[in-house]
Amino acid sequence: MGIQRIESVTYGVADADMLEEAVRFFEDFGLFLVERTDEHAVCETLAGQTVQVDTDPGAHLPPPVESGPTLREVVWGVDTADALDRLVTGLGADRTVRASADGVHHTVDETGFGVGLTLARPRPLHVTPRPANVSGSVTRWSTPLEPVGRVRPLRMCHVALNIPKAGREAAVAFYTDLLGFRPTDVVEPMGVFLQAPGDDDQHTFLLCHRPDKAGVNHVAYEVPGVDDVIEGGNHMIAQGWREARKLGRHTIGSNIFRFLHAPCGGRVEYACDMDRADASYETRIHETAPPHTLWSLRQNRDVAG
Ligand SMILES: [Fe+2]
Repeated sequence: MGIQRIESVTYGVADADMLEEAVRFFEDFGLFLVERTDEHAVCETLAGQTVQVDTDPGAHLPPPVESGPTLREVVWGVDTADALDRLVTGLGADRTVRASADGVHHTVDETGFGVGLTLARPRPLHVTPRPANVSGSVTRWSTPLEPVGRVRPLRMCHVALNIPKAGREAAVAFYTDLLGFRPTDVVEPMGVFLQAPGDDDQHTFLLCHRPDKAGVNHVAYEVPGVDDVIEGGNHMIAQGWREARKLGRHTIGSNIFRFLHAPCGGRVEYACDMDRADASYETRIHETAPPHTLWSLRQNRDVAG
C-alpha cells in the first residue's frame, strides 16, 4: 500500500540547555524518554513512533528552513519492504536519496524539509474509550467519571508544515506524485490536507501556504478523548508551558484540539476524534477558507457590542 504513518520526527536545537528544555516539554506532554545523551534525546509515543531532538542532527539532513530551533525531518513509515523499495526507486529517479545505517532513506522535499522513508514498526494500541451517555444510548451507569490523570498520547497523527505560497503546486506534487499522498481537502487560500495511503485519518499531513516563509507549523498527537485534551493541556500549563490555542474543534477533520508552543519549534497539538476517511471520501475543494473552527469557545468579549 505505501506510507502508513509518521515514523519519527527530528528537531534540531542549538545547545544542551535547549535540549534539556525540549526533553522536559515532551515528558510533561506524556511521551516516554527512551534515549538520552548530551547531544540528543529520543521520546516515544505508545504506538512506538519517535521524536528525536538533537543538537547536531546529522550530515544527511538539509539545512534548517528557518532560523531558531525547528523541525528538520519527517520520516514516514512504509508498510512493506516492496512498497519501500518502490518508493525509494521512484524518489531516486527524481533526486538524491541517501540511506543511513538505521535503515532510513533520506531526501529533501521541494521546500527544503528533510524527508525520510523507512519500514513502519507499528505497535498495537489498546484503547478503551470512556463510556459516554446520551438519552437513548446510556453506557455508563452509577459510575462517575474519574480524571484521566497522566495523559499519554497514543500516536503522532499528523504534521503541518508552512510552505511559501510561490511554488506550492510543486511542493504538494512531490508528496502526491512521488509518495502517494492524496488530497482530502484543498482550501485554496490556505493549504492542502493530505492523507497517507495507509492511514485512515482525514489528514496525515498538511501543507499550509504562507506568503513567503517556510517553517514548522505543528505536530499533532492523538489522545483517547476530550478529557485527555483538556487535562493534558491543563497539566502543561501547570508545568509552565504556554498554550498556543485554547480548546476547540476544527472544521476540517473535525478533531478536537488544544495547542501548546514547543520549545524545539512550532507547536504541538493534543487531538482526538478526527474524521476517518476511506476511498469513498472525495477530495473537497474549498474556494474560500471555511471558518477555522466552528466550535471555538466564544467568550462575551468576543462578541461586539
Ligand atoms: Fe492539527
